[in-house]
Amino acid sequence: QNSFKTRAVKQSSASAIGLRPKISASFNVAILGASGGIGQPLSLLIKMSPLVSGLHLYDIANVKGVAADLSHCNTPSEVLHFTGPDQLAAALKGVNVVVIPAGVPRKPGMTRDDLFNMNAGIVKNLVEAVADNCPGAFIHIISNPVNSTVPIAAEVLKAKGVYDPKKLFGVTTLDVVRANTFVAEKKNLKLIDVDVPVVGGHAGITILPLLSKTKPSVSFTDKEVEELTVRIQNAGTEVVEAKAGAGSATLSMAYAAARFVESSLRALDGDTDVYECAYVQSEVNELPFFASRIKLGKRGIEAFVNSDLQGLTDYESNALEALKPELKASIEKGIAFANKSK
Ligand code: NAI
Repeated sequence: QNSFKTRAVKQSSASAIGLRPKISASFNVAILGASGGIGQPLSLLIKMSPLVSGLHLYDIANVKGVAADLSHCNTPSEVLHFTGPDQLAAALKGVNVVVIPAGVPRKPGMTRDDLFNMNAGIVKNLVEAVADNCPGAFIHIISNPVNSTVPIAAEVLKAKGVYDPKKLFGVTTLDVVRANTFVAEKKNLKLIDVDVPVVGGHAGITILPLLSKTKPSVSFTDKEVEELTVRIQNAGTEVVEAKAGAGSATLSMAYAAARFVESSLRALDGDTDVYECAYVQSEVNELPFFASRIKLGKRGIEAFVNSDLQGLTDYESNALEALKPELKASIEKGIAFANKSK
């Protein structure tokens, strides 16, 4: 998070006086769904990264204008646009990180699972193209329901013979960003210092902030734990209701997704101190997919940080057991969809 901000600031001040900052590395990032509510601000934030040399924007509509607009920013990456299925393969060639926010967002009254019928097929088709054109890339899935779309992506990649579980990620960074913000507000802490691991999944009660593991160490009353946990779990719905039919979280999501992209690029670039929470094929418990803190490296997940899940409070242990059946069902639903539509 810090390095993302610092790099962006250094970059803009260097550009302002006409100097190109020294680029330590150059990666290509593709955004599938780039002209959407998340796609546009996310593309802007990634355009600011000095680690990116090529920004490939793909959508089924309106992407040419987004690319023209962004290409005028005097940051190093070249912006390319690709519209519709005929250009999808070209969008993915030579790409190191693929980010997928394509699909339909929630409207008031909808759960993330209500999006399944629309988004499952979209994610399946896009990941098939990823398998064919850039099978070694890190894949970041944003499209909801993440609890099911990530298992769908895994099945698609398996069927194509290119599944690397270390490189497939459901983006849950927004849950961490929200937890950090709400805890800092509640406890009057400096925002930049606060770090709360969030585990489980990315919908309702499957989102489990481990408040007892907050850094810096801080104590909460039972009431505070209950209120904060429920607020973090419902924060997406808070935005959906405030937008009153005009979509779900887009700006905070773009910020969170850009942080996860930047972390991935730093890891690819050889930084050995990169940790994020993400929803991945897991070995931390009996669930095949689970969000928890991972160490990222050049080849993707390097290690699971098991210490977060040890010594939980009774509240957290009970919440963890309570979320497992729902998360398991969402995983099975995704796998069944992928296998049915093979
Ligand atoms: P949006 O409707 O504003 O944008 C979606 C974009 O996807 C549109 O530009 C659309 O043309 C494009 N699209 C649709 N089908 C496509 C296809 N087959 N190929 C390429 N592009 C396609 O939606 P928004 O607000 O950007 O949300 C996108 C997704 O992100 C939703 O599923 C939403 O639920 C999810 N989301 C996930 C979060 C997370 O924390 N993981 C947080 C917030 C939203």
